[in-house]
Amino acid sequence: MSRKAANIISAQVIMKPDAVLGLATGGTPVGTYAQLVEWYRKGDIDFSEVTTVNLDEYRGLAKEHRQSYWYFMHTHLFNHVNICPERIFMPDGSNPDKIKVCKEYDRIIKNVGGIDLQLLGIGTDGHIGFNEPGGAFELGTHCVDLTESTIEANARFFDCREEVPRQAYTMGIRTIMQARKVLMIASGEKKKKIIKEAFFGAVTPAVPASILQMHPDFTLIGDAGALAEIDL
Ligand code: GLP
Repeated sequence: MSRKAANIISAQVIMKPDAVLGLATGGTPVGTYAQLVEWYRKGDIDFSEVTTVNLDEYRGLAKEHRQSYWYFMHTHLFNHVNICPERIFMPDGSNPDKIKVCKEYDRIIKNVGGIDLQLLGIGTDGHIGFNEPGGAFELGTHCVDLTESTIEANARFFDCREEVPRQAYTMGIRTIMQARKVLMIASGEKKKKIIKEAFFGAVTPAVPASILQMHPDFTLIGDAGALAEIDL
């Protein structure tokens, strides 16, 4: 799964060296980033003209916090490739001014010309980025209250559950749907139910990822566990 996803990302960068990549965090993309770093070291991929915009960031965490998505992206990818720091963008989690942060992030995405390829994981409740069930499909970047199930799922990265921030800034579904290509990766049996529901069930805000059925260029790459309930 990781290698196939990395192949698609590197093909995008080869075809368009100044591509805008929308990137994701979570456990699922770690192997994809490791593969990209390996190919970069071999000289097979060049990030010097690439721009990145990340999906989301916890509200209330400084960049240097070890659980911030800023820290995650630098640890897993940015510190190891020749990406230009001025072309790395993420919502500013350290700024509590929701309106300002969200407006600024939408402006940044517009200014870079939109997203060529958006990488996504999926939450067990069907969330993408931090767009939780029940949110509106038409939103741009906004601040969300994380659901109990997302707090629970993300607690494994923190010392204790109480440390998980309760809010996050996230690109909205509208922003994600405007990406020219969307690539989702899903791994493990814990995702099999939601993968079936999202892509073989109704398109509904109750399952945010289900809207991707309407995207004109959407690819899902899953491992055997995540695809276990799909009749291929
Ligand atoms: C977080 C992130 C999502 C990610 C999800 C699933 O909620 N905001 O972008 O898709 O976790 O994470 P994992 O890949 O660890 O299952």
